[in-house]
Amino acid sequence: MSTNSIDSLLHESRRFPPTAEFTAGAIAKPELYDEAKADRVGFWADQARELLHWHKPFTQTLDWSSAPFAQWFADGELNVAYNCLDRHVEAGNGDRVAIHWEGEPGDSRSITYAELTAEVKRAANVLAGLGIRQGDRVAVYMPVVPEAVVAMLAIARLGAVHSVVFGGFSSESLRSRIDDASAKLVITADGGWRKGKVFPLKAAVDGALANGTSTVEHVLVVKRGENEVEWTEGRDLWWHDEVGKAEPEHEAQGFEAENPLFILYTSGTTGKPKGILHSSGGYLTQVASTHRNVFDLHPETDVYWCTADVGWITGHSYVVYGPLANGATQVMYEGTPDTPHPGRWWELIQKYKVSIFYTAPTAIRSFMKLGREIPDAFDLSSIRVLGSVGEPINPEAWIWYRDVIGAGTAPIVDTWWQTETGGIMISALPGITTLKPGSAQVPIPGVKIDILGEDGTRVDPPQGGLLVVSEPWPAMLRGIWGDPERFKETYWSRFSKGDVWKYFAGDGAHVDSDGDIVLLGRVDDVMNVSGHRLSTQEIESALVSHPIVAEAAVVGAADEATGQAVVAFVILRSDQEKAQTVEEASTLLRAHVAQQIGAIARPRQVFVVAELPKTRSGKIMRRLLQDVAEGRELGDTTTLTDSSVMQIITDKLK
Ligand code: WT7
Repeated sequence: MSTNSIDSLLHESRRFPPTAEFTAGAIAKPELYDEAKADRVGFWADQARELLHWHKPFTQTLDWSSAPFAQWFADGELNVAYNCLDRHVEAGNGDRVAIHWEGEPGDSRSITYAELTAEVKRAANVLAGLGIRQGDRVAVYMPVVPEAVVAMLAIARLGAVHSVVFGGFSSESLRSRIDDASAKLVITADGGWRKGKVFPLKAAVDGALANGTSTVEHVLVVKRGENEVEWTEGRDLWWHDEVGKAEPEHEAQGFEAENPLFILYTSGTTGKPKGILHSSGGYLTQVASTHRNVFDLHPETDVYWCTADVGWITGHSYVVYGPLANGATQVMYEGTPDTPHPGRWWELIQKYKVSIFYTAPTAIRSFMKLGREIPDAFDLSSIRVLGSVGEPINPEAWIWYRDVIGAGTAPIVDTWWQTETGGIMISALPGITTLKPGSAQVPIPGVKIDILGEDGTRVDPPQGGLLVVSEPWPAMLRGIWGDPERFKETYWSRFSKGDVWKYFAGDGAHVDSDGDIVLLGRVDDVMNVSGHRLSTQEIESALVSHPIVAEAAVVGAADEATGQAVVAFVILRSDQEKAQTVEEASTLLRAHVAQQIGAIARPRQVFVVAELPKTRSGKIMRRLLQDVAEGRELGDTTTLTDSSVMQIITDKLK
């Protein structure tokens, strides 16, 4: 984050207490904090019993004896899909709409809990027929269509493990994820709508499986884009054919609470994405509990909308599992916010009378730029709670969000969490917390957060440090798929001592004199671009995989629209220097990264340079490159092998 925006976060003095009216009707009561404080583990056990249906009740809550590998509710059994579907129908809420889905071209479907349950049962029978059993991995590579949710729940219903890969990722990225998890089946679509066009998905799956060595036996294809697809007989099956003829009955069996639910890949500090593993009972407890308390969900009357793609953790926890476990009615939208017109989101809020809206600061900032006339043209009076996630929200954007989208009255919950934490960890609770723009504020009840100095001792407020989670929490990751050592090393090695385990999140944070937490961004080589996590090393590897590149260094540079933007510095191979102009090389390499990883990783700029700044031990000094990319005065260059390198780079770029 730039120094400017940190300053504005730290010197924010506006306060917004909840209205008496909101507090009176709020789901979360202040006693939640007291209960969790008195008995943290017992608090989660109460939430698990209150919010979920257990096929077999648990008697043990937390087993931390194999730390950092946790077990929650280990002797209990549940079926995640049953919790999200059948039980709502059995409770008489089958006619409640689960999903108001809106396609980008304007087609729409409203699906009730009864209909969604029926569809998932059929899909579960199809998957079982294709040999999917408990523990098998299934890759899901889909647009935001109801079938993506159906697929995830059908997999969960069988006790199998989904690995959803964001539809914007390349064939190459999909392949590495399929291979890492040895997926048996891929569920995809012919295409999906984005910015007025159909983007192909099936072709990317074909590419990912092309080498023929894959563990994938079948590909189930949802028809959405109506675009031409190639077909591999015997391997490829149409979803509508299979689901259409499937048996409608399927009884949900209970699985152990620790049965793995999904793997979701995320970027770390090394080149290879990590398969973050989540399990069932603890995860579902925390996402249901936070979805209810943080968003003040009244399932009978609220219409909730989280704009995340199901391919990210926000989509898993706050589109699929949290809302459906709570029997919420939600909006799902396939396309981009500005298609076919820049008021599309506000039109949807008006159309479905959305009352709880959850999105990312990057989107809010881009709407701010377009001007308030656009949202002002729609009736947004149904809104009563606003949420923010993915990166720090600057106070100006916070105030705009509240004034323009929330009529100057809606509470904003700024929710801090990660793919690894599974569910929200730090957030205000509406109706209780006096809000502070730009601060995620306080850990949710039952979560213990500390801000530590480099030496591992707690910092005295007001002060900055590194954010750790000091006690295990129910939705915590259970590991990195296939790599227990990397799990320990990445998250637990920095601050744990003896049998005291502290989870290091990779974020810097500041505690103010009220004890409120202000998040300051990543402290490792992970970038945050539009709320999406990207690894500098992964993009560097993509760059050097191109034959014209000799060396590459990537930094995240502050960007007004996207928070951070990818900026790359490359040295071309000597035989290539004259073969193309700097502009040609830059265009070529931007496209190459998009093709290797996905469009979200495409660098904003690629600078061709003659040298990279290195320390005497050969480490690239990204900090200096970041200074250049952000147009700042250079920091200390004395540790460089050759201190003139930076001068040459800056002169050239001017
Ligand atoms: C990283 C996690 C959690 C879902 C979306 C991103 C940053 C997330 C906030 C927030 C400041 C935030 C952190 C975190 N982050 N939410 N409210 N305020 N920073 O999930 O891709 O796993 O990324 O996003 O840096 O470590 P993710």
